[in-house]
Amino acid sequence: MTVTGLTAHDVMQHGLMLDSGSSRIAIELRFERPAFVYGHRLKACSIGAFTYFNAAGTSSAYRCNIGRYAQIGESSILGPPEHPMDWFSSHPFTFTRPKYMPNMYRFEDFARLAPEAQDGPSYADSMPIETTIGHEAYVGVGSFIKRGVRIGHGAVVGARSAVTRDVPDYAIVVGSPARIVRMRFAEPLVERFLKLQWWLYDLAPHKNKADFSKPEAALAYFEERLAEGSLARLSPATYSIRPGATGYDLDTLPAPLF
Ligand SMILES: CC(C)(COP(=O)(O)OP(=O)(O)OC[C@H]1O[C@@H](n2cnc3c(N)ncnc32)[C@H](O)[C@@H]1OP(=O)(O)O)[C@@H](O)C(=O)NCCC(=O)NCCS
Repeated sequence: MTVTGLTAHDVMQHGLMLDSGSSRIAIELRFERPAFVYGHRLKACSIGAFTYFNAAGTSSAYRCNIGRYAQIGESSILGPPEHPMDWFSSHPFTFTRPKYMPNMYRFEDFARLAPEAQDGPSYADSMPIETTIGHEAYVGVGSFIKRGVRIGHGAVVGARSAVTRDVPDYAIVVGSPARIVRMRFAEPLVERFLKLQWWLYDLAPHKNKADFSKPEAALAYFEERLAEGSLARLSPATYSIRPGATGYDLDTLPAPLF
């Protein structure tokens, strides 16, 4: 069932932290609760539970699939569209379509120059469109993540990095272009983290039992709980919202994203 005309305050009751105003969510946002988006610009994205965009500054995310527990620093740009490098012109008048840039087409000056909707597949249709930010990835302030890239689970992107290639799980990358400086943990520990996939489980009942400052001990604790069957899946309520005529329109999705 669709609930229409919600304010940012109403949406908070469904576990999504937004600043007021409906202009910052474009097309659709699929989210698991709780998620913290504030006033950042998200276009056709999905975000897992406990993921947050830092409250400060303005970040943009385009067609990004973001896992659980991701941390996005302010003023980051994730997955912006690419323009063709080897066409007559890189300007959208050569390659776009009304569905991609409806505002540009609102001016007749542009519409008479640019391709029509029925002009067949566009450049954008042939390009990688989705960018992936893994579970518990930590993206430092002012980062650029190229469209189509995958930032691995547990990976770290240093502040002001430009990421143009996939980042392996649990790698720390810095710089422009971003290069691996080290891994967060030794290989055997990384393998255990990836096998455990702790982000799939409800850790709340264990918060005073595991010492999160000691990764190996905490891993061992959760591996044991998983083996004995006492680690329950995290099943957050999951929604889709989009800007509607009078506010946000919201649907409840049948299953979590992960
Ligand atoms: C990437 C980062 C996590 C690394 O932290 P760290 O493990 O303590 O690593 P170090 O400080 O030991 O740095 C390792 C090397 O990378 C370099 N480096 C670190 N961060 C860098 C960055 N953002 N850009 C370029 N180089 C960087 C260091 O100078 C050092 O190089 P050196 O070995 O030649 O001296 C940290 O520097 C960073 O960028 N944090 C982001 C903070 C942020 O954005 N917070 C927002 C929270 S929402």
